[in-house]
Amino acid sequence: MPVSLTQLKEMKQKGTPFCVTTAYDATFAYEAGEAGIEMLLVGDSLGMVLQGHDSTLPVTMEDMAYHTGCVKRGNQNSLIMADMPFMSYGTVDACLENAGKLMRAGAHLVKLEGGAWLAESIRQLARQGVPVCAHLGLTPQSVNKLGGYKVQGKSDAAAEQMLEDARTLEMAGADLILLECVPTRLAQKITENVSVPVIGIGAGPHTDAQVLVMHDLLGLGRGRRPKFVKNFMVESDSIQAAFAAYAMAVRSRQFPAEEHSFNL
Ligand code: KIV
Repeated sequence: MPVSLTQLKEMKQKGTPFCVTTAYDATFAYEAGEAGIEMLLVGDSLGMVLQGHDSTLPVTMEDMAYHTGCVKRGNQNSLIMADMPFMSYGTVDACLENAGKLMRAGAHLVKLEGGAWLAESIRQLARQGVPVCAHLGLTPQSVNKLGGYKVQGKSDAAAEQMLEDARTLEMAGADLILLECVPTRLAQKITENVSVPVIGIGAGPHTDAQVLVMHDLLGLGRGRRPKFVKNFMVESDSIQAAFAAYAMAVRSRQFPAEEHSFNL
């Protein structure tokens, strides 16, 4: 049986961090599962790391359903979360229909980017038995609105709004919150003020879980690496060992360290 949401919620209560990585195909999904990674994200980051685009916007529902199926066939151990791509959840009806496609393809839950405006969609998904993760902070599908890939929640007003959004979405039925590129203190405050597990990326060491894009943790790819990334391949002799080193570092709270965090 794969890891369940109930187990992840118990881990939050016990203060035991869990780890998440992205996966897009059966082979890497298998290796991550064997290394004990609790949760896999079929991220729309595939638009950048697999397809070579400069954003996640070109990714389609067909792409997401295809890669979700690939990951599902390779992994029996981990909870599988699939991203709903750009413009696939703008109305409640579209959201329900497209979430259904990802669940049929093998996802155990879906992830949506956005704040309180998602409450009605999350409520309806919950009614239909579809678990949801709400992605707050830097939401890459809104890169053109945000003016770049930047840390979010820096002003008091923006921080208050993010906390409010997290509470609203939890009330609507969100099962998980994901915070991307958020100052450490704000991420800690949100983590302490919601009862559902909070997954962080570039959000400091105090969230209930960490996620990294697989290519980043394996040291793959070109260009400048974001501050919050660590290459776990450096001291590992196999890909499975690198996933295991990442898992160990998250569980022992050695990752993320000060240098991977935004302490504003
Ligand atoms: O698509 C993705 O990989 C993500 C992570 C960056 C959290 O959403």
